[in-house]
Amino acid sequence: MHSSRRFSEIIAATNVDSYLEIGVETGGTFFNVDVPTKVAVDPNFRFDFESFRSAEVEFNQMTSDEFFLHHVGERKFDMIFLDGLHTFEQTFRDFCNSISHSHDKTLWIIDDTVPRDVYSAISDHQAALRARRQAGAEGSSWHGDVYKVVFAIHDFFPVYSFCTIAGNGNPQTLVWKQPRADFSPAWNNLESISRIDYFDFLRAKDFLNLVSEEEGIAQAISFLSGE
Ligand SMILES: C[S@@+](CC[C@H](N)C(=O)[O-])C[C@H]1O[C@@H](n2cnc3c(N)ncnc32)[C@H](O)[C@@H]1O
Repeated sequence: MHSSRRFSEIIAATNVDSYLEIGVETGGTFFNVDVPTKVAVDPNFRFDFESFRSAEVEFNQMTSDEFFLHHVGERKFDMIFLDGLHTFEQTFRDFCNSISHSHDKTLWIIDDTVPRDVYSAISDHQAALRARRQAGAEGSSWHGDVYKVVFAIHDFFPVYSFCTIAGNGNPQTLVWKQPRADFSPAWNNLESISRIDYFDFLRAKDFLNLVSEEEGIAQAISFLSGE
C-alpha cells in the first residue's frame, strides 16, 4: 500500500482533481486514491471494471500507447502514476506521451525506479524470473529497467526536477516541472543510457536524487501548493 499511502498524503494537502494511472492490475492503488476524476489504463484489468465505471471514474482496457494515441483526447491531469510495462522504452514513451496531458502543476510518480538486485533489473519479465531461478536467488521481484527513465529525464528534460523515494515500500520517482538550476547532462546520449546495466546503475545511483518518503512527500506538497 506504499503508493496509496504516499499519494493520499499528497492529495490531502493539495488540490488534486484529476488522476491518471497507467498499469492498474487489481486496482490496489487506483481504488484507494481519493480524487474526484480518475482514469485507469491497463490491457488486462484483474477485476470486473465495468461494474466500477461512473461519470468520474473511467477504465480503458488497452495499452498505454493505444490510450495516448486514440483515447486520451485533450485532457490534462493533475497527478499521473506510471506503473505499466516495466521496460525503459515503454515507460519512457509513457512519460513523453503524458507530457502533452500535463500542466505546469502536474506531479508524476514513476514506479519501480530502483531495482532490488541484478535479476530484478532485467527488462524481460520471464527472463528475469528465469535468471533468478537458475541462480537459486530468492523472491520474484521484477522492476525491469525503468531506472533508465530517470537517467533519460536527467539528461533530456532539464526543465523537470525529480527525487526518488527509497525506503518504506517500493521506490518511486516523483517528477515535476521546475527547471534545474545546475543542469549538465551526464551521458548526453540515449543509446548509452539504454545500455546502463545494474552494476552501472549502482555507480550512478546518486543521479536519482534519493530521499526518504517523508522528504519526497514534502517536496511534492511544496511544489503543488507553491505559486
Ligand atoms: C505492477 S502492475 C500495476 C500495479 C498498480 N499500479 C498498483 O499500484 O496496484 C503493472 C500493470 O501494468 C499493466 N501493463 C502491462 N503492459 C502495459 C501497457 N503496455 N500499457 C499499460 N499497462 C500495461 C499490466 O497488465 C499490469 O496490470
